[in-house]
Amino acid sequence: MAFSHKHILGTAQLSTDDISLILDTAESFKEINQRDIKKVPTLRGRTVINLFFEASTRTRVSFEIAEKRLSADSINISASTSSVVKGETLEDTARNLEAMRPDIIVIRHSASGAPHYLAERVNAAIVNAGDGAHEHPSQALLDLMTIREHKGSLKGLNVAIIGDITHSRVARSNILALKKMGASVRLLAPGTMMPPGIEKTGARVFTRMEDCLDGADVVMMLRIQLERQGNTLIPSVREYARFFGLNRSNLKCAKPDALVMHPGPINRGVEITSDVADGDQNVILEQVENGVAVRMALLYLISGESVSET
Ligand code: CP
Repeated sequence: MAFSHKHILGTAQLSTDDISLILDTAESFKEINQRDIKKVPTLRGRTVINLFFEASTRTRVSFEIAEKRLSADSINISASTSSVVKGETLEDTARNLEAMRPDIIVIRHSASGAPHYLAERVNAAIVNAGDGAHEHPSQALLDLMTIREHKGSLKGLNVAIIGDITHSRVARSNILALKKMGASVRLLAPGTMMPPGIEKTGARVFTRMEDCLDGADVVMMLRIQLERQGNTLIPSVREYARFFGLNRSNLKCAKPDALVMHPGPINRGVEITSDVADGDQNVILEQVENGVAVRMALLYLISGESVSET
């Protein structure tokens, strides 16, 4: 099946067939990541610019690793070391980068819609590596890959997503993708962190941790963004941990084989206790490992390369 998208802007744009193709392609790339020599010539001669206006460890490094393993030439730019600090606009930055003829620009930006804005103004393919509180499609896809590996299928699973739903691009991308793939999504957050009308996505909203976790196949905890709105939307971190944090005791409400997931970075002792984050049910580092394979798949599919070259 052909992949028809030039850009990866969000899971909202992806069909169920697109998502299945991305996950299947990522599975085949995962094998490359387990070889002694982790490099194939698939994207030789392609140039990818990683343009990160916000901090990142997992996403930035795994895009760069994905590019290098596919033999693309990758260039990293962070806002703090670019002419953005001199006041250059996003559009001017992108147009100047484009004058150097990159094939793909991977962008993380604090403004929702920044990748869409660029996609309308430059010729390079744009990959959204997280835009404001809007979408983080590659994160959701690596989450789906990890769930599918463990559970065989996404259809019919009960996935609990717990934390700051309002400001989480990870939650938004996951809700959209999981619903498309036939999973049931449950949401729990303090009232100040639950967007009004979220039920329209088909997700069910809960008010008690134990009810949300009851019989869940997957528990996805979200980071409280203490550096952004986190401190002003909850009375205290201690109370948040008491009512919305995952611990060994309330995890027992979920199925015994429930997966514990977290996109990282973790606030240990706030949204999740360390014993659960490091416990038998956690798949957090598998998510990170799958992030490389999913990003290889996305770069490969939007480049329109032939399968035989892998
Ligand atoms: N999950 C995620 O986006 O992590 P980083 O902010 O470290 O990229």
